[in-house]
Amino acid sequence: MAIKAVVLLLLSLFIGLASLIVYAENSKVSIARLSTVHRYNHQGMDTTSFFRRSLISPSPSSEVAPPGSPLAPPSSRVYRATTYGADPTGKTDSTDALLRVISDAFKTSSNRILMQGINDLGGAEVHLEGGSYMISRPLQLPASGGGNLVIHGGSLRASNDFATDRYLIELSATSDGNKALPQYTYEDITLRDLMLDPNYRGGGISVINSLRTSIDNCYITHFATNGILVQGGHETYIHNSFLGQHITAGGDPNEKNFSGIAINLMGNDNAVTDVVIFSGAIGVMVSGQANTLSGVHCYNKATGWGGTGIYLQLPGLTQTRIVNCYMDYTGIVAEDPVQLHISSSFFLGDAFILFKSIKGIMNGVNVVDNMFSGSGKGINIVQLDQSKGAFTAVNQVVIDRNNVQGMTLRATVARGLTQGNGTSWTVDFNPVLLFPNLIRHAQYALSPSTTGTFPNHALRNVSGNRVVVESDIAVPATVYVAVDQGMVTTS
Ligand SMILES: *[C@@H]1O[C@H](CO)[C@@H](O)[C@H](O)[C@H]1NC(C)=O
Ligand SMILES: *[C@@H]1O[C@H](CO)[C@@H](O)[C@H](O)[C@H]1NC(C)=O
Ligand SMILES: *[C@@H]1O[C@H](CO)[C@@H](O)[C@H](O)[C@H]1NC(C)=O
Repeated sequence: MAIKAVVLLLLSLFIGLASLIVYAENSKVSIARLSTVHRYNHQGMDTTSFFRRSLISPSPSSEVAPPGSPLAPPSSRVYRATTYGADPTGKTDSTDALLRVISDAFKTSSNRILMQGINDLGGAEVHLEGGSYMISRPLQLPASGGGNLVIHGGSLRASNDFATDRYLIELSATSDGNKALPQYTYEDITLRDLMLDPNYRGGGISVINSLRTSIDNCYITHFATNGILVQGGHETYIHNSFLGQHITAGGDPNEKNFSGIAINLMGNDNAVTDVVIFSGAIGVMVSGQANTLSGVHCYNKATGWGGTGIYLQLPGLTQTRIVNCYMDYTGIVAEDPVQLHISSSFFLGDAFILFKSIKGIMNGVNVVDNMFSGSGKGINIVQLDQSKGAFTAVNQVVIDRNNVQGMTLRATVARGLTQGNGTSWTVDFNPVLLFPNLIRHAQYALSPSTTGTFPNHALRNVSGNRVVVESDIAVPATVYVAVDQGMVTTS
C-alpha cells in the first residue's frame, strides 16, 4: 500500500512538472507570435524548432494521463503560418517560413495510410491565418507525400522574381534521381479559402499525380500560364471558385490581349463545378477523359477576340460532360469529338459550339436542350471546321431540341413541310442541317387537300440534304418530312 502511494505521488508530481513544461513551451509560442514581424528577417532564420508540434506533443504526460484528462496536452494539428515567422503583411518574403509550416504538417502521423505509400496526416491543417504572404519560390509539397491535409485561409502572391514556369502551390514531387516516384504522391489534399496571385509570373496551383484533391472557394488571378493545372492522377474537384487573368467585370478594353488558361485539365475523372472564369484566353482546356464541367460561367475572352470558353482537345476519345454551363460571348471547341454531352447550358452573345475535324471523326455527341442568344447576325449555333478535312465518320450525333434567339439553329434532326399542286414536292433541309449532304433517315407523309383523291406517291430522292416526293397524278397536297443525320442505321 505504502509503496503504491509513493509511486502515485511521484507520478502526479511528474505529471505536474510535465504540464509545466508544456505550459512554458506554449507561452514561448505566444511570445513569438506577438513579435514575429520584428524577429524574423525575410531570409527566415530557423528559430522555429521550439514551436514544432512534434517537439511539444510527445511529452511524458500524454503517456500517463488518461484520454480526455485536462492534463493531456492539446493534440492540435493546426500549423499556423505566423508561428513559423511568415509575414502576413506580405512585405517580406515568407517562402522559407511557409515551407517549414508545410514540412512540419507533413511530419504529423496518424499511423495510418491512405493509398499504399501515402501517409494519412490525420487532418492536419496549414492555417494561413488570414495573412497575405509574398513568396519567391513555389510552395511545393514534400516529396515524401501524404494526404488528409488542408491548406487554407489566406492569400499568396508571387514576388517579382518568381519563376515563370512554376506555380504558387505545387502538388508535385520531384524525384531525387535515385528512386522512381510512386504512381500517386498525394491524396485528399484540400486547398480552400485562398486568394492566389502569381503576379503574371507562372501559375496558381499545379496538381500532378494526385488523387482526390479538393480546390474549394479559391480566387486565382494574374496567372501567366495556367490558373490551375491538373496532370495525371484523378479526381481533382474544383468548386466554388473564381479564376481570371485580369480582374475585370467584363468588357475590358484590353480583352483581346488576354492570354493563359484558367483551368488546364490534363488528367481524367476531374470535376469543375460552380466556377466563374472571368478572363484568360481559354477558360477550361480539357485533354483528359471523363471530366465533368457543371455550372461553369465563362466570360474569359470573347470568341470574337479569339478566345475559347471550353476547349476539348482530345480527338477520338472525348468522354466529357458539360451541363448547366453559361457560355458568355465565348464558346466551346471540340476536336474530333467522341462521346461528348452538352446540355442545359446557356450561350449568350453569339457564343457557339465548334467541331473541328482532325481525322474526320464525330461519334456519340449530344448537344441537346440548350439556349442560344445572339445579336441577329445569323451566327450558327453549331459549326464545323473542316479545314483539315471533312467529317467522314459521323455516327450517333444528336443535335436537337435547342432553342435560339438572334442566331441560326443548326441540328442533326429536322422536320419540314411543303405545300403545292403537282406531282413533285421538295423539302430543302440545308438551312438547318449541320452536315452537308447527309441524311441517314427520312420519313414523309403526303396529305392531299382535296377529298376523293388517292394518288400513288413515293420518296424519290434524298440527296444534298433535300427530300423529293413524287406522285403519279397532279394533286394539291401538303408533304411532311422528318429527317435525321445522326442516327445509327440498322438494316
Ligand atoms: C495589347 O498588346 C499589344 C502588344 O502586345 C499592345 O500594343 C496593345 O496596346 C495592347 N492593347 C491594349 C488595349 O492594351
Ligand atoms: C391543281 O392543278 C390542276 C392542273 O394541273 C388543276 O386542274 C386543279 O384545279 C388544281 N387544283 C387546285 C386546288 O388548285
Ligand atoms: C437525286 O438528285 C440529285 C441532285 O438533285 C441528282 O444528282 C441525282 O441523280 C438524283 N438521284 C436520283 C436517283 O434521281
